[in-house]
Amino acid sequence: MSKDTNELLGHADEADGIEEYDNPLPDWWVGLFWITIIWAFGYTIHYHVIADRSFENALAREMAAAEARWPAEAAAAAAAAAAETFTVTPELVSAGEALYATQCIACHGAELEGLIGPSFVDDEWIHGGTVADIMRIIREGVPEKGMIPWEQILSAQQINEVAAFVIQRHMDATGRTIEEMRGADGAM
Ligand code: HEC
Repeated sequence: MSKDTNELLGHADEADGIEEYDNPLPDWWVGLFWITIIWAFGYTIHYHVIADRSFENALAREMAAAEARWPAEAAAAAAAAAAETFTVTPELVSAGEALYATQCIACHGAELEGLIGPSFVDDEWIHGGTVADIMRIIREGVPEKGMIPWEQILSAQQINEVAAFVIQRHMDATGRTIEEMRGADGAM
């Protein structure tokens, strides 16, 4: 392709004698320019329509994946239902006693009388004295006070066991019944 080059535009008169050439841009440069424009069209259609990668969709996808992985509401509902029917059996208590001796004794004392953490054999509960409260504090902890979120360490079954042990000892010491402790008004 031949092109006329070095033609003057001829406005030296208006521009203090400064001349300007009317040279075309090199083909490779114009070619790149067109490629970017075509690319932008294709990319826009791909991004917004074909792959549909809007921020809203990306967020929705991540939230759905998180919900599938950590089903928070389902777990909370299951936990509440479990607390309402929670039964303290001798098997749970004795398995819980062994767990207590390895995991909890250092902070809550050999007789559950309290050391760094509070006593379980008095009438005081900082976070409420229902089965649901006790299970929740064992699961979620109070990290800022030094009580560990045990759900990261113990299985759900182990949490049931150690909770059963704590609840049984609390009932032995205070005379409360499991029915009282299951009820929402069982909080002391
Ligand atoms: C590193 C020390 C530490 C260990 C180990 C520990 N706790 Fe605690 N725990 C605490 C502290 C401190 C608190 C009080 C938190 C607060 O003041 O809010 C607490 C609070 C609690 C409560 C709530 C008490 C209330 O009055 O509401 C329960 C229930 C409990 N712990 C159970 C357990 C069980 C079960 C274990 C063993 C699996 C355990 N803790 C291990 C330090 C500990």
